[in-house]
Amino acid sequence: MNNEWYKRMSFYQIWIRSFKDGNGDGIGDLKGVYEKLGYIKSLGVDGIWFSPIYPSPKADYGYDISDYKNIDPEYGTLDDFKKVLNEAHRIGLKIIMDLVVNHTSDEHPWFKESRKSRNNPYSDYYIWRDKPNNWNSLFEGKAWEYDSERGQYYLHIFAKKQPDLNMDNPKVREEVKSIMRFWLDMGVDGFREDVINFISKAEGLPDGLPFVPAVNGMPYYKDGPHIHEYMAEFRKVCEEYDCIQIGEGPMTTVSSALKYLTGENKSLDMMFSFDHMMADCFYTEYEHRPFKLYRYKKALSKWQYALAGKAWNALYIENHDHPRIISRYGSEKLRYESGSALAVSFLFLQGTPFIYQGQEIGMSNIRLRSIENYADVSSINNFNSYHLKESIEKRLKRIHLSSRDSSRTPMQWTADKYAGFSTHEPWFYVNRNHAYVNVDEEEHNESSLLNFYRKCLQIRKNSRTLIYGKYKEYFPKDPYIYMYERSLEGMHYLIICSFAKHTVKVRIPKNLAEVKLKLVISNYAGLRHSTYFAPYEARVYRFRK
Ligand code: NOJ
Repeated sequence: MNNEWYKRMSFYQIWIRSFKDGNGDGIGDLKGVYEKLGYIKSLGVDGIWFSPIYPSPKADYGYDISDYKNIDPEYGTLDDFKKVLNEAHRIGLKIIMDLVVNHTSDEHPWFKESRKSRNNPYSDYYIWRDKPNNWNSLFEGKAWEYDSERGQYYLHIFAKKQPDLNMDNPKVREEVKSIMRFWLDMGVDGFREDVINFISKAEGLPDGLPFVPAVNGMPYYKDGPHIHEYMAEFRKVCEEYDCIQIGEGPMTTVSSALKYLTGENKSLDMMFSFDHMMADCFYTEYEHRPFKLYRYKKALSKWQYALAGKAWNALYIENHDHPRIISRYGSEKLRYESGSALAVSFLFLQGTPFIYQGQEIGMSNIRLRSIENYADVSSINNFNSYHLKESIEKRLKRIHLSSRDSSRTPMQWTADKYAGFSTHEPWFYVNRNHAYVNVDEEEHNESSLLNFYRKCLQIRKNSRTLIYGKYKEYFPKDPYIYMYERSLEGMHYLIICSFAKHTVKVRIPKNLAEVKLKLVISNYAGLRHSTYFAPYEARVYRFRK
């Protein structure tokens, strides 16, 4: 399989509902995407990952699919999609789709059939039991819901409207392959595979520990007994095409990730890991703790070292499942400085960078007045299920810090009403800061975050060292500075990012004391050679050795 092209790429992730409304109904759509392909290309990325755009009742905004081989009418038609695909290919952008096959919507025809009886062609498409075990779901209470039509309980690891498919049924696996072929035949270039490490459940579905909230069943459905057999079947389909597979691996460890990424049974090209997204929280952002740089560095370095020479990393610091990174690991007051330092911290690592819509202009979290204003099923569930002894204000603060809705506000294109996202009132709240945080403004400002992202992506693209070089971290215990080196065949880059809100003195590693450092990019103006770093200052140097 000659698909190594992804190593030289970077991707832009589109969560379509909030990207750009092309038909004036307040909801983002494919017409809007088509209009903005030139903008995406101008960033210097090489591909787009579409979060689900298939028909869906939207209990989980598209991650509850009711038809895998179509486009949701709110977003357009298959013809609109083909138009986007063809134009994207024409201008040199690849397209990868979200493959969500751990579960469907309860409104998918398979589930509607499955719930009818215990002996129809779809009865075993899902996981049914007379007696539920004690698993909790990740999104909505218990993991089992009683269905009165069939007189049994079905398993849902996520929301009630997301019943888990029974991957042990060969017919279900055939369906998955047929979905893959449908999109690959149309010309898409690969898949981002949703919670793919959850698709094989332990035989007998044993009870989990009763006192572990939400995740108590995880040991029995993460990296389950048949996962690698099933993944091998899906890999075979991909091998018929020149395509890539990127797995989402919630809670995956390095050693389990390597089983998907290496060896004869390699089934994925990259995996989205989560460790580095927990530098300010435990497991979910709802369980907040203060951001600590050492946690972020430790997680990044762990994955960089472990995959070096063996596998390829998927690099990201934002997506549709996490609050905005500037509000978390940076500073809303020092938006440009912290946003650009965060960009430098991850764009020059080994791996393929993924940039989430709005990240490149420094969008930040929204704070809504009441839980009623939030739309995301998991935020609403968290608010109503955990820390119930705390005051409403305290729980709402947790939501401000954690809600996925913060990454799902309409994209800020201009300072106009509705942020240039639509001419109609948008389906969700626009962040008020669109008055000054928007694409239009940043296009016209040479030293904006947007233009900084463009420069960084260009630098990465033009350097074999930054793509293939060896990684080495310096001063891992430093509480303010993240410093790493990439090196290949005598060419080296030294990347230094300060995460301090004040000026700090930076130590130069002893082995580099004599080398002549040439500044490649910095997020502060002017030639910077001082060993003092301003708040969130980031510099990339090049040298030979
Ligand atoms: C991970 C997706 O990224 C998230 O948005 C979704 O809610 C869950 N998987 C369930 O599909």
